[in-house]
Amino acid sequence: MNLINRPRRLRLNSSIRSLVRETKLNVDDFIYPLFLVEGEKIKEEISTLPGNYHFSVDMLEKEIDEIYSLGIKAVLLFGVPDKKDPFGSEAYSNTGVVQQGIKEIKKINKDILVITDICMCQYTDHGHCGIIHDYDVSNDETLNYLAKIALSHAKAGADMVAPSDMMDGRVAAIRKILDDNSYKDVSIMAYSAKYASAFYGPFRAAAHSTPQFGDRRTYQMDPANSDEALREIELDLKEGADIVMVKPALAYLDIIRRVKDNYNVPIAAYNVSGEYAMIKAAIEKGLVDERSIVTESLTSMKRAGADIIITYFAKDMARWIQEGR
Ligand code: PBG
Repeated sequence: MNLINRPRRLRLNSSIRSLVRETKLNVDDFIYPLFLVEGEKIKEEISTLPGNYHFSVDMLEKEIDEIYSLGIKAVLLFGVPDKKDPFGSEAYSNTGVVQQGIKEIKKINKDILVITDICMCQYTDHGHCGIIHDYDVSNDETLNYLAKIALSHAKAGADMVAPSDMMDGRVAAIRKILDDNSYKDVSIMAYSAKYASAFYGPFRAAAHSTPQFGDRRTYQMDPANSDEALREIELDLKEGADIVMVKPALAYLDIIRRVKDNYNVPIAAYNVSGEYAMIKAAIEKGLVDERSIVTESLTSMKRAGADIIITYFAKDMARWIQEGR
């Protein structure tokens, strides 16, 4: 008997394909990043991240309503302050743009989960993620500032803080200050395996956070390393991280998978600005089909093991999921 194994049987039509589909994107998976600027009546498209905007706090209501109606329940806030100084003092000011934004979003819709990026690079005049001495970021001194920033976000009403600076010991420092001030329920999503990546270019243009000298390779991870990612994850979990992150996503799917296989905690993947901008540029050139390529890329992150995806495509993808196939 001539027996051919026929895997194609399970691909015959879309109904059977969806029956056996292993990975399905869900709107609950997404976190949508928002960029907040000072001033009033500002909603300005970010040229490096087409389809995404700089918002002044008074312009958030329509955006939050739209996000919520699409089923997206979590936003990640980035502040773009007017004033920068060596100590990034706007980052922990109680009247800072993120602190105002948190309060405003909670007023608009208390069910939206407000997550804040904890870093100094948008707030320092030198553009590095910490306090500088002799052209180097001073790790331990920076920890006090990061803790202060996290506390000020918690005071304003943030549900979760997300340190992206890559200083050693920052998760413990943040956990301690939050607990000491009775914010024990504010959770920490640590950018644990954050690589020194060229894929952040469009974000830095959007957030005005390009370093004025040097680069971030003394604190962000070497793209060549994988075992080190597991060590970083391990440390952050020991220090109290609730969710760990791998960033960027597409060029680091192997890292996401290793973390998934080794740790039993929620994993977030950050589909970063460069990944978004490259796909957008290819769409604009007519080289690829938008919906298919976005669905395929985000699915690959979930298939690799991500439970949560931070993406500038969140609203588009949510719309496509709502529409169905
Ligand atoms: C701040 C920060 C960066 C990103 C998130 N938080 C930039 C950087 O580390 O230079 C990048 C996000 C993106 O590219 O979409 N440290």
